[in-house]
Amino acid sequence: MTHTPAREILVTSALPYANGSIHLGHMLEYIQTDIWVRFQRHIGNKCHYVCADDAHGTAIMLRAEQEGITPEQLIAKVQAEHEQDFANFKVSFDNFYSTHSPENREFSEYIYNACEAKGHIATRTITQAFDPEKQLFLADRFIKGTCPKCKTEDQYGDNCEACGATYSPTDLINPKSAISGATPVQKDSTHLFFKLPDFEAMLKEWTRSGSLQSEIANKLAEWLDSGLQEWDISRDAPYFGFEIPGQENKFFYVWLDAPIGYMASFKNLCERTAELDFDHYWNKNSSTELYHFIGKDIINFHGLFWPAMLHAAEFRTPTAVYAHGFLTVNGQKMSKSRGTFIKAGTYLSHLQPEYLRYYFAAKLNNKVDDLDLNLEDFMQRVNSDLVGKVVNIASRSAGFISKKFDGQLSTTVSEPELIASFANEQHNIAALYENREFGKAIKAIMALADQANQYIADKAPWVLAKQEGSEQEVQDVCSTGLNLFRMLMIYLKPVLPTMSDNAATFLNDDLAWSGLNKPLISHAINKFKPLMTRIEASQIDAMIEDSKVEVAKELALKEKQNPTPKATPLEANPIAEEINFDDFSKVDLRVVRIVKAEAVKGADKLLRLELDLGGETRQVLSGIKSSYKPEDLTDKMTILVANLAPRKMKFGVSEGMILAAGGDEGIYLLEPDQGAVAGTRVS
Ligand code: MSP
Ligand code: ZN
Repeated sequence: MTHTPAREILVTSALPYANGSIHLGHMLEYIQTDIWVRFQRHIGNKCHYVCADDAHGTAIMLRAEQEGITPEQLIAKVQAEHEQDFANFKVSFDNFYSTHSPENREFSEYIYNACEAKGHIATRTITQAFDPEKQLFLADRFIKGTCPKCKTEDQYGDNCEACGATYSPTDLINPKSAISGATPVQKDSTHLFFKLPDFEAMLKEWTRSGSLQSEIANKLAEWLDSGLQEWDISRDAPYFGFEIPGQENKFFYVWLDAPIGYMASFKNLCERTAELDFDHYWNKNSSTELYHFIGKDIINFHGLFWPAMLHAAEFRTPTAVYAHGFLTVNGQKMSKSRGTFIKAGTYLSHLQPEYLRYYFAAKLNNKVDDLDLNLEDFMQRVNSDLVGKVVNIASRSAGFISKKFDGQLSTTVSEPELIASFANEQHNIAALYENREFGKAIKAIMALADQANQYIADKAPWVLAKQEGSEQEVQDVCSTGLNLFRMLMIYLKPVLPTMSDNAATFLNDDLAWSGLNKPLISHAINKFKPLMTRIEASQIDAMIEDSKVEVAKELALKEKQNPTPKATPLEANPIAEEINFDDFSKVDLRVVRIVKAEAVKGADKLLRLELDLGGETRQVLSGIKSSYKPEDLTDKMTILVANLAPRKMKFGVSEGMILAAGGDEGIYLLEPDQGAVAGTRVS
């Protein structure tokens, strides 16, 4: 396509913490990065993609202790799970490593020593909360107590979840260590600080280098203008991490060695790959490109400390840091109680990875905006675009070619202009991918898919096939259809690796980007197999149910291992967003009598209830089977949300919802006081 030499690019995604599972919020980042990486490779650039688990810190140390295993055992277990999830989502890392590695220790010591030798490390004594029982300094989030403002108990050391107040842990009433329950004492300790203000000029220049998103450049400028602070990079023992050279019982703070993990992972890759040279990518005059994809919550680490540390140790600085926003589900923060805190593994046991890759691609842009996974829209979009539009082109053309023409495509291009118009989009689509405007790229590709479908509908090969003497035209139309499909799959390849692999087998072609300029003629294809199936609503419902079960299991395990700091129901499930009276009065609640209750065949949790609303009968499917025997429910009175839109579930239609308290610890139906009559409005 072009004669410019291949670019040499090193790409990273942020390193996930090794104390928890990967969820769909994380996946937004790994999918975004992977699409960009696959695109770079697709157009012929050298693009290396590395990542690792972020394995250090107090949280990991405590979690291992809770589980009764060593931190090393914990991080090995979590890493195996993370790697499996990423492989299943087709994230094409060249290396997935760990920050708890010899390479990372070496680079961390090297960079620290370089900073120290140049006078960029300061030593100061600070006073901190200390757990006298555990003999451990306590970060703010490990101190709990009563909110000084609203007096809610069991609040974290820096902010109150009930009233939103922010304060310092010393303001808490009756503060306790969240780890042992002991009352913290104040204790002095010497800490090491990285003198970030030394790098003000350097950072100002780096920020203006031009390749940062404007949102990031502005944020950094704001921090730079308000004055930089020295950064505390040491933690006292006990801590799971690397010991600081020349110090006793002091460890590097996890955020010091975490980004160095990018280098360590790449170094480890170089050790295994003869043609890769570490210094070529990291020397301070390197001509290669280095990009970090991250979430908006960690911009300060990547935009201030990291470039400063690299500069101090005379390595190259990043070409750019690309931040994305946060994932919401159905318009709200992912929620454990609503079942929208969805783990990668839970998603994968119900839905195909490429549905999500496609949906994220369709909604991503190059801004720091949050992205909403609306589950209804997700299903519609995937079904209508991928199944309804893209696969449809192939399925409508393939049959004729196999049955009537022995799998052979025509010997000439019958629609050179149409084919050329598809190929001509390559510069536009490539530029959109390059600029991380994936949503716009998908829009352009789907516009082509619409054209292809229109072409086939106009030519109607199924009509031609019945006409005498139209044989050649049928072959030509279907060959054109398949060539258009092929170009769409070449464009979609970075987003849909599995589907494009299967399309490649079907078309007997490698779907290379350069193939856009060489349509298939006199070419044999293979038998068509369905390339993608529709998403069913029941799959999504089952995933949500499963996520709730996952959360309950986790809570039960936590409770078993660490029963002391009890999570109150309010804490596990905080009060929802405020509504006004009008919002509330939209909900029509009615007293009902349960006429009949029965188990639903094939459903583990559901009962089918027949409800008397005082003259009207409703059927409701309710997930209360675990707590109620059907025969005990007959004639019980309860409350129905009577104006809830009927919901079609796998096991039938549910016409409303009855009210119950609780969740996985037990379910408690709400009952009106004696004497209430069925049909009465509740207000
Ligand atoms: N360990 C640090 C990163 C160290 S990088 C040198 C960390 N880990 S994390 O597991 O909390 O997050 C990993 C990445 O996933 C981060 O970029 C974070 O912003 C991103 N996300 C975590 N939750 C997310 C959403 N809900 N939505 C989008 N991205 C999210 O931070
Ligand atoms: Zn409060």
